[in-house]
Amino acid sequence: MKRIVVLLSGRGSNMLAIAEALRRERWPASIVGVIGDRPGAAGLQRAGELGLPAALVDFRGFARREDFERALAEAIDAHEPDVVVLAGFMRVLGAPFVEHYRGRLLNIHPSLLPAFPGLATHRRALQAGVAVHGATVHFVGTEVDAGPIVAQAAVPVLADDDEAALAARVLELEHRLYPMALHWFVEDRLRLEGGRVRLLDPRPGETRLLWHEAR
Ligand code: GRF
Repeated sequence: MKRIVVLLSGRGSNMLAIAEALRRERWPASIVGVIGDRPGAAGLQRAGELGLPAALVDFRGFARREDFERALAEAIDAHEPDVVVLAGFMRVLGAPFVEHYRGRLLNIHPSLLPAFPGLATHRRALQAGVAVHGATVHFVGTEVDAGPIVAQAAVPVLADDDEAALAARVLELEHRLYPMALHWFVEDRLRLEGGRVRLLDPRPGETRLLWHEAR
């Protein structure tokens, strides 16, 4: 059984998608902890409702980022995780933290990296006039929103899209992308080779790319 810890700051829809996929597909894994960095994160409450152990490490209680990250790592490591999943965790993590979890720390970012790291990705994609946008699951490196790419989901940008419509189209695919990528990790099918990710034993039709299906 692989032990998964999820970190979040907000509504937690990706955490829920992972919890549902894990149960539905009977992964050899369980979510052993969900940790939030701010009180009032809806995702923490939703985790509690699912019966998952939910805890808060409030970043506002720490004067220095290093102290917060040390407390966070202690809370995480108490669960002895095989993998730590950032699911809408809105804090930049320092190098010692990232190093400690190297190779077992995943993030989802709402753009096709390396395009649009940082915030307001959907607005910036619209401003740039791209025809395709999406989301990326990657291993976390010491640079923000960078690191070996596990899988990507691509959606078309439509002529009448606004930020909310585009965000909703991307989020729908995030909810398939993150479980897919994490399932591969749980199955030990991801290999890091020279800073790139290889998916072992791909099944027929299985690729590291999800497309938006036109309806
Ligand atoms: C998602 O768009 C994710 O890509 C980004 O933050 C958002 C989190 O949403 N990192 P949720 O909390 O999982 O609903």
